[in-house]
Amino acid sequence: MSLLNILRYPDPRLHKIAKPVTVFDARLKKLAADMAETMYDAPGVGLAASQVDVHEQLIVIDTSDTRDDLRVFINPEIVWASPEKQIYDEGCLSVPGIYDGVERHAKIKVRALDVDGKRFEIETDGLLAVCIQHEMDHLKGKVFVEYLSPLKRNRIKAKLLKEERELKRDRQSVAVR
Ligand code: NI
Repeated sequence: MSLLNILRYPDPRLHKIAKPVTVFDARLKKLAADMAETMYDAPGVGLAASQVDVHEQLIVIDTSDTRDDLRVFINPEIVWASPEKQIYDEGCLSVPGIYDGVERHAKIKVRALDVDGKRFEIETDGLLAVCIQHEMDHLKGKVFVEYLSPLKRNRIKAKLLKEERELKRDRQSVAVR
């Protein structure tokens, strides 16, 4: 297994639309395993393939405290969503250090395929429901900061771009030493 590079907002590749997975082979299993390893290492509770620059409909999630309940959703679809909404403070591995409230459906029913191409359905609420909706947005090219006001979003963009420049500068000064 190997760790994958996570794209950082505002990288334009985060806005690509992911295609459905059609081939369930060893490559797909390795991608899911590498994504899980990357998510646990970060650490995070969810990761979408879009975040590692693979534009296919695949997400990995583990919202358990014990970090031993890995869930893989391929070609996920929300088949039912409660009219009730809830607001959670969300974060994202592609938007490091930023947390803000996003309103989403409180309860959802999701249909997806596993790594073997077998179909399953789950109905869930709480953090798992939030996480699935957040990761499914990534597959549509949407990052959670897009729910925030333009003012907040621009501030976040400026902060992350500044950090990115500083990181690059640090890397360069290491290289010339
Ligand atoms: Ni995210």
